[in-house]
Amino acid sequence: MKRIVALISGRGSNLRAILEADLPVTIVAVISNKPDAAGLQLAEQYGIPTQTVNHRDYPDRESFDGALADIIDAYQPDLIVLAGFMRILTDGFVIRYQGRMINIHPSLLPAFPGLDTHGQALREGVKIHGCTVHFVTPTLDHGPIIVQAAVQVLPDDTSDTLSARVLEQEHKIYPQAIQWFAEGRLHINNHGIVNLSAPKLSHDVL
Ligand code: GAR
Repeated sequence: MKRIVALISGRGSNLRAILEADLPVTIVAVISNKPDAAGLQLAEQYGIPTQTVNHRDYPDRESFDGALADIIDAYQPDLIVLAGFMRILTDGFVIRYQGRMINIHPSLLPAFPGLDTHGQALREGVKIHGCTVHFVTPTLDHGPIIVQAAVQVLPDDTSDTLSARVLEQEHKIYPQAIQWFAEGRLHINNHGIVNLSAPKLSHDVL
């Protein structure tokens, strides 16, 4: 089974969705940059080892990312899952894990990278908004797109109502993307586009 390390900063609702999906993977550790992240308690309830690497304990991004990488590498993960991890990562860190680190972002990328994506969507007046799971590359909130889900923006939406509807979709597509990774079905082509190959037939079916 593929070994996964999840990085979080907060409540961990995407982590919960991944855990509840009962995927054919082993989550070997959950690491937070914030000691009080609620997602850490959730991981402990599931018996998953947790670690905190508090970014405030490090003078700069390079030293924080170095400490984080040392801890991650000790778990020998096949995949690193950023699940509401709210730190900008250095290029060196991202390149080290390129092709085996994925992120969920609450917009239909490439629209609305960065923060306050739901506010950005409302201010632009878009009629369709959503979320994206993508491989992480050095450009923030960029990188080969694995899966997206769309929601309609309603006339009376607020940032809160819109974010709640998008979050429901996040909880569906993140487990789906991890399932595909675990099945070895995600392939990045020469143009940086993700192709999803057909599921392998099991011997029972043949
Ligand atoms: C989610 O909406 C996720 O898409 C977003 O943070 C939230 C974390 O919620 N991530 C980003 O904005 C990353 N750029 P959660 O802790 O309940 O999973």
